[in-house]
Amino acid sequence: MLKGKSLLCLLDFDSWEIQKMLDVSFSMKERVLINSIPKSLDGKRIALLFEKPSTRTRVSSELAVTMLGGTTVVLTKNDIQLSRGEPIEDTARVLGRMVHGIGARVLRHESLVKLAQYSGRPVVNLLSDLSHPLQALTDFMTIRETFGTLKRPMAFVGDGGDNVLVSLMAFTAKMGLELRIASPKELRPRQDVMRRIEDEADKTGAIIEFFEDPYQAVRGVSVVYTDVWVSMGQEAEAQRRRELLSNYRVTEDLMRYTSEDSIFMHCLPAVRGEEVEQSVIDGKRSRVWDQAENRLYTAMSVFSLLF
Ligand code: CP
Ligand code: NVA
Repeated sequence: MLKGKSLLCLLDFDSWEIQKMLDVSFSMKERVLINSIPKSLDGKRIALLFEKPSTRTRVSSELAVTMLGGTTVVLTKNDIQLSRGEPIEDTARVLGRMVHGIGARVLRHESLVKLAQYSGRPVVNLLSDLSHPLQALTDFMTIRETFGTLKRPMAFVGDGGDNVLVSLMAFTAKMGLELRIASPKELRPRQDVMRRIEDEADKTGAIIEFFEDPYQAVRGVSVVYTDVWVSMGQEAEAQRRRELLSNYRVTEDLMRYTSEDSIFMHCLPAVRGEEVEQSVIDGKRSRVWDQAENRLYTAMSVFSLLF
C-alpha cells in the first residue's frame, strides 16, 4: 500500500492515505508517552540529506529513525561531494545502493524527483522551495488535537507563494476543508500546482479562497497561520517582500476578528515583529510549541509507513 511510496507532495496521495498518516501520528504519540515504541524500521538504513539549515525537521527526522529501530546517516550538503559539483543523480545512485529510504531538504523541488528516480528508494520531502508536506501533516494533527476535528476554517496571512502554504492547501483540497489566504496578488503559488490544487478541491468540495484584505480573510476563522516573509533561498528579494507584505502581519488586532476559541499557528522559525506580533506568538492562543513537538510523531508515522 503505502510502503515504498515517496512523499514529495500530498497531492500524490488519496485522502484515506493522508488520514492514515494522521491516525498513525496520533498512535505514535501515544506509544511514545507509554514508552512502547514499535520497531518498525528495524534493520532499515535511512539517509537524511540537508541542503538548507533545519532545527525541527533535523531533530525530529533523526530521532524518528532511531526511535523506530533504524539507523540513520545525516548528510549536510557542505560535507558531501554534492557541494563540489557531483550531480544529484549520482548522489542518488550511491545512496540507493546503501540505504532503504531517503529524507531530503532541497533547494529545488526537482532534486527530490531526481533523488527518487535515480535511487530507486522511497524519498520523503523534508522541505523544498515548493512544499513542506510533513509540516502540514503536523499542523492538521495539532488542529485535530485542539478541536477534536479537522473541520475548522483556517486563514493563512502572508506570502501566498509560501512552501508551507502550498502543503496546507494540498491537505485542505484533499480533505475537503476550508482555507482562506490573505496575501498580496503578486505572491501566488506556481500555476501548475495551483491548478492541481483546484482540481482536487473541486472533487472534495474544499474551499480555497484568496483575499487581499487580511481582515476579510480572518473573519470568524478558528485558525490563523503565518510563515516568514523571506524564506530560505529568497534572501536576495528580502526588501521587495518586506514591502509587499507589510500589511500582512498577524497582530492582536487582527486576532480580534477570529472566532472566540481561535488559535495561532506558525511552522517556525519565526521573526517576531515581522510576520507576527510578539504578543500573539507568545500569547495564550499560540500553538506553535505543540506544532513543533508534533513534528516528531508525524515523522515517525510517515517513515514507518513509507520506509
Ligand atoms: N518548521 C521547520 O521545518 O523547521 P526547521 O526549518 O527548523 O526544520
Ligand atoms: N517558508 C520557510 C519554512 C521554514 C520551515 C522557508 O522555506 O524558509
